[in-house]
Amino acid sequence: SGEMGLVLALSYLLGSIPFGLLFTKMAGLGDIRDVGSGNIGATNVLRTGRKDLALATLIMDAGKGAIAVLLTRYMVDPALAPLAGAAAFIGHCFPIYLKFKGGKGVATFFGTVFAINPLLGLACGVTWLLAAAIFRFSSLSALIASLLAPAISYYIVGPDSWIFIAFMTLVIYIRHKENIARLMRGEEPKIGKKNK
Ligand code: G3P
Repeated sequence: SGEMGLVLALSYLLGSIPFGLLFTKMAGLGDIRDVGSGNIGATNVLRTGRKDLALATLIMDAGKGAIAVLLTRYMVDPALAPLAGAAAFIGHCFPIYLKFKGGKGVATFFGTVFAINPLLGLACGVTWLLAAAIFRFSSLSALIASLLAPAISYYIVGPDSWIFIAFMTLVIYIRHKENIARLMRGEEPKIGKKNK
C-alpha cells in the first residue's frame, strides 16, 4: 500500500543520517572515514579517543531504529513496525546521503530489536556485553549477539518478527566481511584501542 511505501521511505531516510560522521565532523576531528576501520559507527568513533562522541553515536544510531519502530507502531500500523526498523537499519548501512556507503548496522539493529521487544533487546545487549567482556572485540560481539537474535526473537516474540531480524543479521554479517577476515588473521583491534 501507499502507507507501507511511505513508512519504508521515511524510515530509510531517518536511518540514513550518519550520526558518527556528523558528531566527529562537528567536533573538528575531520572525516571519521579516515580513522581506524573507516567505519562511521560508535566503535570507530571511540578510536578517536572521544568516549562522549562514541556514546552519543551509539545512542543516536540505536535511537533512529527505535524511533522508526515506535512511530510506525503507534502512528501507522503495528504490523509494519519491524519492517520500519529494518528500513532504518538499511538506511544506516546504505545511506543515500553517503552514496550508499554507510555503516555496519549494529547500533541500529540494537535499537530496532529493543523497540520490537525490550526483553529481546536486553538479551541481545547482554550477549554483546558478555562477548565483549570475554573477547574484547566489538565486531565479534556483534556477530555473536546478532546470530542469536533471530532464535531468541522466535521464542520471546513469536513467529512474527524473527524473519526481519534474521534479514538484518545476514546484512550485519555481509557488512563485517573485513572484520571477519581480520579476526581470522588475528589482526582485529581490541575495543577502545586508539587510532588517530
Ligand atoms: O559496530 C560495528 C562494529 O561491530 C565494528 O566496527 O569500526 O571495528 O569495524 P569497526
